[in-house]
Amino acid sequence: MHKRTALRHLAAAGLASSLPLAFQSTAFAQAKPFKIGFILPMTGQSASTGRQIEAAAKLYLAQNGATVAGRKIELIIKDDAGVADATRRIAQELVVSDKVDVLAGFGLTPLALATAPIATQSKTPMVVTAAATSIVTEQSPYIVRTSFTLPQVTLGIAEWASKNQIKRAVTLVADYAPGIDAEKTFKDRFKLNGGEVIGEIRSPLRNPDFAPFLQKVRDLSPDAVFVFLPSGQGAAFMKQFAERGLDKSGIRLICTGDVTDDDQLNDMGDVALNIVSSHHYSASHPSAVNKKFVEAFQAANKFRPNFMAVAGYDGMRVITKALEATKGAGGGDALLAAMKGQVFESPRGPVLIDAQTRDIVQDVYIRRVARVNGQLFNEEFDVQKAVKDPGKTK
Ligand code: DHB
Repeated sequence: MHKRTALRHLAAAGLASSLPLAFQSTAFAQAKPFKIGFILPMTGQSASTGRQIEAAAKLYLAQNGATVAGRKIELIIKDDAGVADATRRIAQELVVSDKVDVLAGFGLTPLALATAPIATQSKTPMVVTAAATSIVTEQSPYIVRTSFTLPQVTLGIAEWASKNQIKRAVTLVADYAPGIDAEKTFKDRFKLNGGEVIGEIRSPLRNPDFAPFLQKVRDLSPDAVFVFLPSGQGAAFMKQFAERGLDKSGIRLICTGDVTDDDQLNDMGDVALNIVSSHHYSASHPSAVNKKFVEAFQAANKFRPNFMAVAGYDGMRVITKALEATKGAGGGDALLAAMKGQVFESPRGPVLIDAQTRDIVQDVYIRRVARVNGQLFNEEFDVQKAVKDPGKTK
């Protein structure tokens, strides 16, 4: 029989189309790679956030295998340099041209806000592994967050301050949404506990020079200054804090763990010793899961994982377990449903993705910087269990 005739016979027999439709589409879907489009600041002043999250996502795949429920996981990493217009454009390209199954990353709050409408319109799950303003998850029903919120991690240090002879405080925060969240949370709780906030200072997000703000803190002479700055600014701040002699002024520095960031902490030197902060992750968190995570991360990279890395790692967990739950079929709504309510042990401790808010519920630790085996770490000494974001408006 002629080859072409044979093919025509096969077609006439309807071999392919005789398969049940559902089976055909599943077989086709499972052959396709499962694409996760990470949009991260790989350059610019938040580049450490991108570097940490990329390294952690790759580590997760290296440890758990790059094929999940028959689908090969494909990571697409794009640099938005921390600029919202770029994030929006890249998100559009990833959805329309690359047809990604999930969007992930978002190093700063404005970058997450710029992308939320695209996630909603395209019904693409958007896993936020950094941006930490409370309202982020309320901007789209397709957003799930594996990082933290500023109100969630600020309550702990506000409580600690009230119990530790701090009566008059000044707040100093980066002048954008997460800074405003931290400022409000600190002020409300500290005042509720009988403290007084005698000054509220905001420093610009871009290229801040802290000198004039530190001078203002000095002039106000509080018992303590509470600080929030985004990841990447802590070391420059500490340097100026020491240069201006504030470490010897009797004014205590207290902060969220974004300032005593594991990415930079070890280079800050003795000026960082004894700083008390509250946060959801420390590289020295004493659990077996974390020890394994930190060892593997440091074996694969030349740096220590920080709270951005752990959120990227857990983001990959949430995404791939959701894919598994859909037996490899994926689909925006099915994935999202399978992300909600996940409970697991993260390197940071036990976590839950709250099914109602799609935000993370986690332990928040009170820590003190100490030198351990020659290196600086945030040593946890107290914990608030299972903290839900207290900053939600509904
Ligand atoms: C945000 C960014 C950070 O680097 C951080 O440490 C906390 C919050 C943000 O933009 O939401």
